[in-house]
Amino acid sequence: MKPIGPLMIEHRLIERMIRLLKAESERASNDDSISSAFIDGAVDFFRTYADRTHHGKEEDILFIELQDKDLPEDLKSTMDLLIEQHRYARRTVGALADANKAYQEGETDLLKDMRSILDNLAEFYPRHIEIEDKHFFIPCLDYFDQGEQDAMLQTFYDFDRKMIHEKYGIFVETFEIDLPKP
Ligand SMILES: [Fe+2]
Ligand SMILES: [Fe+2]
Repeated sequence: MKPIGPLMIEHRLIERMIRLLKAESERASNDDSISSAFIDGAVDFFRTYADRTHHGKEEDILFIELQDKDLPEDLKSTMDLLIEQHRYARRTVGALADANKAYQEGETDLLKDMRSILDNLAEFYPRHIEIEDKHFFIPCLDYFDQGEQDAMLQTFYDFDRKMIHEKYGIFVETFEIDLPKP
């Protein structure tokens, strides 16, 4: 498999998640209430899977290696745009998490804001993915020989393998803060 293979496969799961966001936004509009449990799960998906695992492979591996290549200006500026878009996604998911917490605490008038955040994410991600799939990944691949591509694929697999351990390590550490030291 080419190193962009896993990234494109991950895009397909993000697209399926986006369909769920749209469905929840519509359902929330009809029922005048939003599922906080679903939003908690969606926030976790976007933070752990879409951002840490997927954007992580893009930014911490592919983009870093591209910095050593003599890329043309158009690909360089696309890479800058993609990094800025990742920042936007992080901010937007953070706003969704904050709104959901307040909603759970009784601020039900945040429903409209939460729906508009869901709609913004649903509008944003397909555009971001299209830039990567159709205008960035494939031309970038030309700057890596076969050996470099094989090594990057292996680095992606190694990166993925750490994720589940990192996620639950952080989870335990977060709750340990309230405990006396053993
Ligand atoms: Fe991306
Ligand atoms: Fe991506």
